[in-house]
Amino acid sequence: MKDKCAPEVREMTLEDVQDVILIEREIFLFPWSIGNFSDSVKAGYVCRVIVKENTILGYGIMMMSPEEGHILTLGIGVDCQKQGLGKVMIDYFSDHARINNAKSILLDVRESNERAIRLYKKMGFEHIAVRKDYYPTMSGRENALVMKLIL
Ligand SMILES: CC(C)(COP(=O)(O)OP(=O)(O)OC[C@H]1O[C@@H](n2cnc3c(N)ncnc32)[C@H](O)[C@@H]1OP(=O)(O)O)[C@@H](O)C(=O)NCCC(=O)NCCS
Repeated sequence: MKDKCAPEVREMTLEDVQDVILIEREIFLFPWSIGNFSDSVKAGYVCRVIVKENTILGYGIMMMSPEEGHILTLGIGVDCQKQGLGKVMIDYFSDHARINNAKSILLDVRESNERAIRLYKKMGFEHIAVRKDYYPTMSGRENALVMKLIL
């Protein structure tokens, strides 16, 4: 029987952006703006939230091109991390990309973000390139690892 309390993934609406931005500001030192999220929703990117009992626990955004999905952001609220929700979001994006005939998914991640990198590797992503000095830090710049999942 379906667990009525299990988290579910649904489309992010413009009304959700206020709640999403609260999580974003909690988990990222250099957060996206409200405009970044609402523009992504308006552009028709694959913008999703993971919800339990009407509360948003996390979110992710993927941009689709014909052959490839590109995960632009992914975040789970601090209190809800390490419960498998990040995996649920990545599985969701993998299924969505596969159904839309994509062959792979790409993402960028800060090279210091060990937890995220470990999760992506566990899920089959491979490190394929480095974007040098891609992200700002409090003291300068840091590299991005480009990671790819073959579907
Ligand atoms: C990276 C991020 C999205 C991962 O989300 P998450 O929901 O914590 O991920 P999961 O729970 O699916 O997996 C993370 C770990 O929890 C473990 N885990 C999953 N369910 C668990 C459970 N019930 N009990 C204990 N551990 C569990 C997983 O095995 C994994 O372990 P690992 O760190 O040793 O690999 C999240 O930490 C986050 O939002 N971080 C801040 C923002 C960020 O860095 N985003 C990514 C930018 S590229």
